[in-house]
Amino acid sequence: MKHIVVLTGAGISAESGLSTFRDKGGLWDDYAIEEVALIHAWTADKEKVLNFYNIRRKEAFNAEPNGAHVALASLEMKANVSIITQNVDSLHERAGSSNVLHLHGRLDRAKSEFNERYNIDIGSDDIRIGDLCPDGHQLRPDIVWFGEEVPNMLPAINLVKSADLFIVIGTSLTVYPAASLLDYVRKNVAIYVIDPSDVHPMYAAHYKQFKQKASAGIDMAIKELENSGFFSTI
Ligand code: OAD
Repeated sequence: MKHIVVLTGAGISAESGLSTFRDKGGLWDDYAIEEVALIHAWTADKEKVLNFYNIRRKEAFNAEPNGAHVALASLEMKANVSIITQNVDSLHERAGSSNVLHLHGRLDRAKSEFNERYNIDIGSDDIRIGDLCPDGHQLRPDIVWFGEEVPNMLPAINLVKSADLFIVIGTSLTVYPAASLLDYVRKNVAIYVIDPSDVHPMYAAHYKQFKQKASAGIDMAIKELENSGFFSTI
């Protein structure tokens, strides 16, 4: 089976009612990124950071996977599908996708602020000041903040290098290193971009954009792949 690697961003969850970051009215219009999503923000005001992610966690928990998440899960019947997501919701998993790599962490997990090895499932629960790991350190969201390393970059790069098709859905490709994954797509491997706004993958020599919302765009892309015989060729 062909290997399809999909890079998703906030736009794929927009039809589930979750805000994107940089669209008009997006999260970064309402919150100062440097007050909630930087490692320095955590040092400066833990309560503010926890509140921001407690709200995000509840919203994500109450959201349902949409047609785009479901279509990607169903695509596993036709191809090997690896999803690399910048999203911190778990809508891909809840739709049934088997191979999901989170680049920026997960809302439904918490970790110790000092001991990386302590990492637990918290479901939809809030994290509060005073919630401690067994060795006494404050719990923090399992989110990769600006200024922190992205531990899953290496496995993500390896997935992209083995892709027979690379699909980008609902990301402005403005945040690095995630956006640099485009650099690792092999020559002659097609890149599809699904986004209602113009997105210009900086290093991609050729790509095809489906200028649609995620659910309509993925349906169009899959139809095109079926018509071209992509799934039946080795
Ligand atoms: P952005 O908010 O930067 O970009 C969202 C993209 O989704 C834009 O290109 C929109 O045009 C597109 N979009 C909007 N509605 C859509 C829909 N219905 N269907 C498909 N696409 C749609 O979000 P990301 O690129 O995901 O990181 O942001 C990357 C990172 O920046 C996030 O992971 C987060 C943020 O700061 C951290 O907080 C560490």
